[in-house]
Amino acid sequence: MEYKKIEINYQLCQLEELSEVEQMVVKKSIEATNTAYAKYSHFYVGAAALLNNGTVVMGSNQENAAFPSSLCAERTAVFAAQATYPNEPIKILAIAAKTDNGLLKDPITPCGACRQVILEVEDRYSQPIRILLYGQNGIYCLNSVKDLLPFSFVESNMQD
Ligand code: THU
Repeated sequence: MEYKKIEINYQLCQLEELSEVEQMVVKKSIEATNTAYAKYSHFYVGAAALLNNGTVVMGSNQENAAFPSSLCAERTAVFAAQATYPNEPIKILAIAAKTDNGLLKDPITPCGACRQVILEVEDRYSQPIRILLYGQNGIYCLNSVKDLLPFSFVESNMQD
């Protein structure tokens, strides 16, 4: 038997340590929390996707009385980006969240379903997506969604 280990990499950054473009995308994700429809959870999530062509597409969580019909901020932003600009890879995806008490101190990380959807975008364009997860105390920065999803499943796994 062989024991194996998978490592993931991320940086813990302060806002000022990010590039100007990255700071802009993070600020857009914070702005997007204002458009959340979070009537049931009172948990307001914003996402902002910077495309290769420089466009920023924003999304927020959209809840529903039939709870499973809701959609997370990340998928709202990613699907809107892909539906509007189907030929544009996503360069950077930033996520922020707040409660009725304000922005979270520590970042949230996307749910499993959102990780899988973001991975499909990386795979579709063969381009890694820089992920910025905002918290007031610090920002988790990852160079690929693969660092959020070890043992991931993509199209090539269906071939021999
Ligand atoms: N939510 C997101 O939009 N993104 C995440 O990464 C985690 C959770 C939403 C779903 C639901 O509307 C609310 O936050 C509480 O789970």
